[in-house]
Amino acid sequence: MKPVLILAIDTSCDDTSVAVLKNDRVLSSVISSQVDVHKEWGGVVPTLARREHEKMIDGTIDLALKRSGLKDIKKINAIAVTYGPGLAPALEVGVNKAKDLALKHNIPLIAVNHMEGHALSALLKNRNGKSYSGITEAQFPLMAVCVSGGHTELVWIEEIGKYKLLGQTLDDAAGEAFDKVARMLDLGYPGGAVVAKLAETGNARRFTLPLPMKDRTDYHFSFSGLKTHCLYETNNLKEEHGDDFAKLIPDYCASFQEAAVDALLLKAIRAAKKKAPKMVLLGGGVSANNRLRSKLRSALKKLNIPLFSPAKQFCTDNAAMIGLAGFFKYQRGEFVQNIKSLDRDPSITIESPDHQ
Ligand code: KG4
Ligand code: ZN
Repeated sequence: MKPVLILAIDTSCDDTSVAVLKNDRVLSSVISSQVDVHKEWGGVVPTLARREHEKMIDGTIDLALKRSGLKDIKKINAIAVTYGPGLAPALEVGVNKAKDLALKHNIPLIAVNHMEGHALSALLKNRNGKSYSGITEAQFPLMAVCVSGGHTELVWIEEIGKYKLLGQTLDDAAGEAFDKVARMLDLGYPGGAVVAKLAETGNARRFTLPLPMKDRTDYHFSFSGLKTHCLYETNNLKEEHGDDFAKLIPDYCASFQEAAVDALLLKAIRAAKKKAPKMVLLGGGVSANNRLRSKLRSALKKLNIPLFSPAKQFCTDNAAMIGLAGFFKYQRGEFVQNIKSLDRDPSITIESPDHQ
C-alpha cells in the first residue's frame, strides 16, 4: 500500500496538538500548551481552553505541516481528529477545524477516540521507522494500562480496533489524584510531574497510606479515598509542623506516589495473571512516571510479559497518538461518512461503537 500521510488534531483538553504522520511514523508533533493560562485557576477552565484553542489552532497546524517537510496540506491523505472523550468546548474547536479543512481540500476525515490514542501510543515510530518504545511487533491479545488526568483504565485489545474495558476508576483518575495531592502541597497545577520529581529524593516509607480497593476482586480502581486521606493528613501535618512542614514534602510525595503506583499495580497485575496478555502497553500522562514504569515492568517480568511505554513526549496529550489510531482506521477504511454532521462526543468510552 502507498504510504499514507495523516494530519492529526487533538484539542480534547488544554493542549492544542497537531501532528503529521506517514503511516505509523511521526514526521512532526507540535503541542501548544495552555498551562500558563489555567495555572492561576488551579485547573482547566473549559471556556478559556476553547478561546486558547481558537487562538492557537491555525498556527499549530501550519507549524506541524512545516516541520513535517510537507508544507502543503494538499499532500495529506486523511485528517484524523479527536471527537471525544474530553471537554466539549475544547473538542469542538478541533472537530470544527478538521471538518473545515476536510471539506475545503476534499480530504477524507477520520474520527478518533482520545483513549484509543493513549492505548496505542507505545506503538509510535520515529521518522526513520524506529520504535520509540522498543516494540518490534505488536502481539495480540494485549492489554493497555491507560492512566491519564481524566481516565484510569485497563483495556483488553483482541486486535487493533477491538477494545474491552476490563476495569476503570469508579471515582477520580490516577492523574487527578496526583494533581490534587500536588495542590495540597502547594506545588501548582498540573502537579503530577512535580510530585514525581520531588518523590525521587523522598522516603516512601515515611508515611503509611491506604492501598485502595485491595479487598475487591475485580479490576476497578478508586483514588478518592486515598486523596481524602492525604487531605486530612497533610492538614494535620501542616498544623503540627508549621514552617517545617516544607521539609516533609519530598517524603510525602514519595509515600503518595508509592501508594498510587501500588494501587495501579494491584489491578494491572491481577488482570495480567488472570488473562495472560502477550504484552502490556502503558499510556496516558501518568505513564511518564518512572516509578510506575519500573515497578510495573518488574512485576510483569515475573509473569514473562513484556511492558512497552511511550516516549515521554507521547505520554501526555499529543496528536501523534491520534494520527496513529487514525492510520489504523484508514487501513480499515473507517472514514466519516457525512463530514458536516460529525459532532464531538465528550463522554464516549473506548468501547463505544466507532464513529464512521
Ligand atoms: O494524558 P494527559 O496529558 O491528559 C489527559 O488525557 O487527562 O494526562 C495528564 C495527567 C495529569 O494529571 C498530570 O499530573 C499527570 O498526567 N502526569 C503525571 C506525570 N506527568 C504527568 N503523573 C505522575 N507522574 C508523572 N511524571
Ligand atoms: Zn489524554
